[in-house]
Amino acid sequence: MKHKTIIEPFRIKSVEPLSLSTESERKEYLKKAHYNLFLLRSEEVIIDFLTDSGTSAMSADQWAGIMLGDESYAGSRSWLKMERTIKDLTGFDHILPTHQGRAAERIIYGYLGGKGKTFISNTHFDTTRANIEFSGADAIDIPIPESADTSLIHPFKGNMDVNRLEKLIAETGAENIGAVILTVTNNSGGGQPVSMRNTKAVSAICKKYGILMLLDCCRIAENSYFVKHREPEYANKSYKEIAQEMFRLCDGAAMSSKKDALVNMGGFLALRDKKIAEACTSLLIITEGFVTYGGLSGRDMEALAIGLEEVFDDHYLEYRIKSTTYLGEHLHKLGVPVLMPIGGHAVYVDAKKFYDHIPVDEYPAQALACDLYILGGIRTVEIGSVMFGKYDENGKLIPAPQELVRLAIPRRVYTQSHLEFVIETFEELIKHRHDTKGYKIVEEPQFLRHFTAKFEGI
Ligand code: F0G
Repeated sequence: MKHKTIIEPFRIKSVEPLSLSTESERKEYLKKAHYNLFLLRSEEVIIDFLTDSGTSAMSADQWAGIMLGDESYAGSRSWLKMERTIKDLTGFDHILPTHQGRAAERIIYGYLGGKGKTFISNTHFDTTRANIEFSGADAIDIPIPESADTSLIHPFKGNMDVNRLEKLIAETGAENIGAVILTVTNNSGGGQPVSMRNTKAVSAICKKYGILMLLDCCRIAENSYFVKHREPEYANKSYKEIAQEMFRLCDGAAMSSKKDALVNMGGFLALRDKKIAEACTSLLIITEGFVTYGGLSGRDMEALAIGLEEVFDDHYLEYRIKSTTYLGEHLHKLGVPVLMPIGGHAVYVDAKKFYDHIPVDEYPAQALACDLYILGGIRTVEIGSVMFGKYDENGKLIPAPQELVRLAIPRRVYTQSHLEFVIETFEELIKHRHDTKGYKIVEEPQFLRHFTAKFEGI
């Protein structure tokens, strides 16, 4: 018999209780947190969809690995295992351990960047952009035009616009380009995948002009799932083989291992070129740690090596992507305007459409995030004008291009009934959606205001 239910391909050995709360308690908690979900305590949250980063549940093998961790300063056995695993996956000769993704970014973009340099990506993740700009360089995003339409169905909405890439290279001059970066999957673009065909096209252009090509590979296994199921030539390849082929097309990669390496902390930089690797190694030793641990303890490296193998398991990846799709498609059926098609790690709701009565300067996505919390104890993140809005010289808001709420799903943490609970919460929310009002910001810092800003309801 072929069952139609895709079950979680694991059983649970260790459980962590959820602290359940009532709606009136949550109203109090939210008021105390000034209507900013980053200011809640985790015990005040029932289902935490704030991020899929560092929130994975580790396997029994990984926990066993924790006890085997070799904490030697130099030449740790756990490091050698992590290095072997990453070399086998990426094919790169030089592996540098870091404590998380942005540490790898600071090192590589600190070295390649600087004033006068330009970096081009399908979409730079915020920390990638911040590290590039902090070096004095410019970061330009060129996703394909289809990515701007939140309801358009396209198999690889994370792709880079290769025509614009050629034009940009001609305008900028190849010698001024620090690197071309493909983010797989494209987190800021909705967790959308990048095709192998697009990767090959970008790689060919980079080779033609002698430009370095890097992969931001946090979610490389999830991306491989989409390649296997949406590009017919890859139907018979394994997920790992697909990832290996993608790495072969590039010159290096930075990974926040807090995503697809199924660990709570970790990252790395992997490079083909010896000269670049040597320069980066010096920066690594100055700021992260010695070459055989970076910012990690031996046990972290042991768990990372095991997680990076487990993530390519067929049953795991099928469960992972299908459960994200399950949530997204059920919300879509209810009439919730979700970013289509559903991506790998998260479901994104278009709050501008959901709360079409709330103007952008009253932050509809913030309102939706607050309502989901009050009604269901669900913590999500606003990706809209709170996060990316700016002010003009008269203090008027220049809104972000989109007002989204991201429901990022931690790996191996929640079961299908948790997803049903979230769907039910939306079912209720949608009935009263036009009763909701927007928010105003009453206090905010100069930078990264979404983390600490204080709000009041209008
Ligand atoms: N690149 C991408 C595509 C990411 O999504 C992230 C983190 C990073 C780099 C930075 O890695 O956090 O380990 O330093 N994304 C998290 C998120 C924070 O919630 O999407 P880090």
